[in-house]
Amino acid sequence: TTILVLNGPNLARLGSREPEVYGSDSLADIGARLVASVPDDVAIELRQTDDEGELIGWLHEAVDRRAPVVLNPAAFTHYSYGLRDAAAMLKHAGIPLIEVHLTNPHTREAFRHTSVISGVATGVIAGFGADSYRLAVDWLLRAGT
Ligand code: DQA
Repeated sequence: TTILVLNGPNLARLGSREPEVYGSDSLADIGARLVASVPDDVAIELRQTDDEGELIGWLHEAVDRRAPVVLNPAAFTHYSYGLRDAAAMLKHAGIPLIEVHLTNPHTREAFRHTSVISGVATGVIAGFGADSYRLAVDWLLRAGT
């Protein structure tokens, strides 16, 4: 199994970006712990982009490869209909997509209370810091995807 762990804008700055909000782990730290937590026959492909088109392309790739996705859409969560339409293709194809957030956006600014992705996600895990990713991967493995 290959799980695509896809990250949107500004998440390459984790560790130094508002650490009081997002914690002190870098995305590489999060990825290394994920890799260490899964069995040897599970591949984790961790990627990050600041580019909406590139992220949409990765969802197309997930459809073509039938690869489950853990997606932190970052700020795109709140307004990218293009990303949502791409996520809808995974739903239509029966491929799980878990939306994750380090923080719980509902406790934050009003503009973060809307997710245009959640309506087409298999589920949402938010507010557990780096463990949000871990919980999402655990569920995918438990669900046998
Ligand atoms: C985030 C929450 C978003 O509102 C924000 O734009 C991010 C990170 C999170 O993981 O908590 O960049 O997705």
